[in-house]
Amino acid sequence: MRAPSPILRVENVSVKFLRRTGTRKFFGFGGKEIFTAVNRVSFEIPAGKTVGLVGESGCGKSTLGRAILRLQSIDSGKIFCGNDEISRFPTARMPLPLRRKIQMIFQNPYASLNPRQTVSNVLSEPLEIHFPEMTAREREDEIVALLEQVGLNAAHRLRYPHEFSGGQRQRIAIARALAVKPELIVCDEPVSALDVSVQAQIIDLLKKIQAQTGVAYLFVAHDLAVVEDLSDYVLVMRSGEIIERGTPEEVYGSPQSDYTKTLLAAVPRL
Ligand SMILES: Nc1ncnc2c1ncn2[C@@H]1O[C@H](COP(=O)(O)OP(=O)(O)OP(=O)(O)O)[C@@H](O)[C@H]1O
Ligand SMILES: [Mg+2]
Repeated sequence: MRAPSPILRVENVSVKFLRRTGTRKFFGFGGKEIFTAVNRVSFEIPAGKTVGLVGESGCGKSTLGRAILRLQSIDSGKIFCGNDEISRFPTARMPLPLRRKIQMIFQNPYASLNPRQTVSNVLSEPLEIHFPEMTAREREDEIVALLEQVGLNAAHRLRYPHEFSGGQRQRIAIARALAVKPELIVCDEPVSALDVSVQAQIIDLLKKIQAQTGVAYLFVAHDLAVVEDLSDYVLVMRSGEIIERGTPEEVYGSPQSDYTKTLLAAVPRL
């Protein structure tokens, strides 16, 4: 019997940017260079599992996450969601049923929520787009259920984002991602902007949601301790490349590359 296809398969993906070098143009030459932010990256995420992606600032983690969401075009390689090749769709032109399957949570819950929308509006919008057959009443019930799923309640739906703490805002962002019943959520440093105690609550919430719904995560972090606890599989990224990969036991227990050893040495361990 064939193994079920993974929810996400990234094959040899590269993303390049044209960057100004700061040097002066010389007879029309120079002044720009090609910078490879993601360099021939391949990996898979099985349904319902968590893959942790770690690496220093600027190594290409967010660019890779954005490429998976099709918010960033890729220069080569392929990305599959289940059996569908999503990389063949131009950025932001992914068909709705496929777009629904992969959602994203960003690092900064202050910037990712529209300050002019009430929580009810924030959660209604994806429901209206992806489930147009829902009645207003059904939508209302669904919004309350989503808020309860992330540890908030019905009374919160009439409030605006600025009336919440950072941790609560991240809960709203999680509810928004969950609204469309995704199969994968790309979590781009979802707790980095939060207080340590709140970080633990959000991580627990994400674990609980995974146990309830079977959603898979690509969890981006620079904090290796967070990823170790959460991940079924870990990828270590440096300068656009995956330089080490394995189970948390392998990567943390017997790191192969000096870079991973350096990252680990920087983490206070209990
Ligand atoms: N639109 C862009 N144009 C040019 N260069 C870019 C663009 N977006 C990102 N980069 C560059 O690509 C590299 C990778 O950036 P990226 O945001 O993916 O890093 P990161 O690993 O997420 O870092 P951090 O941990 O700080 O969030 C950086 O050198 C960045 O300057
Ligand atoms: Mg980033």
